[in-house]
Amino acid sequence: MLNWLWIIVSYIIGSVSFAYIVSKLHSGIDIRNYGSGNAGATNVHRVLGIKAFAAVSILDILKGYFAVAIAISLFDNELLIIFSALAVIIGHNWPIFLNFKGGKGIASTLGVIAALSFTSFIILVVLMATIIYITRYMSLASLVATLIAPFLIMLLVDNGAYYTVLTFILTILAWFTHRQNIARLLNGQERKIGDI
Ligand code: G3P
Repeated sequence: MLNWLWIIVSYIIGSVSFAYIVSKLHSGIDIRNYGSGNAGATNVHRVLGIKAFAAVSILDILKGYFAVAIAISLFDNELLIIFSALAVIIGHNWPIFLNFKGGKGIASTLGVIAALSFTSFIILVVLMATIIYITRYMSLASLVATLIAPFLIMLLVDNGAYYTVLTFILTILAWFTHRQNIARLLNGQERKIGDI
């Protein structure tokens, strides 16, 4: 029973918004009032530059990674691991500390995937870097990566049926949080990396 508390802890870990913290420390601003209004690494890049982007990306990846890696190492219970993964992403997107207005969950989803399959994580990072290099659309890279992710987990994780379903749910969550980006991509108004 006590183990299930880890799901709540994971939600609280997810709720720690590094985009918000780094922006406050860097320039004293609430990142949600600038750029796209998203408390995520991409918007931090847009508003504060590459170093702050790197810091937020790494910390958000680690957040997702540790919530799930700790659940895997402590509990022999796939359902608990899956709910911990969902909780850390839900915490990131809808953080209890920021009136439930957080980020879109991509870096933390990559962290969750790293805990399930490090090879999948590396493939997705390379894929995203390639798409960003070619198109300069971070949101497109995020959408394609999350679409591919469940197939990688299915192929690369032994007996990974439950983790494939988990990753598919994370894909739906990511596409939901990117719904405005999808609309902008479709009508040609999405911001590119480097645009204000
Ligand atoms: O992962 C977030 C990114 O794909 C889009 O961020 O700030 O352009 O909405 P943003």
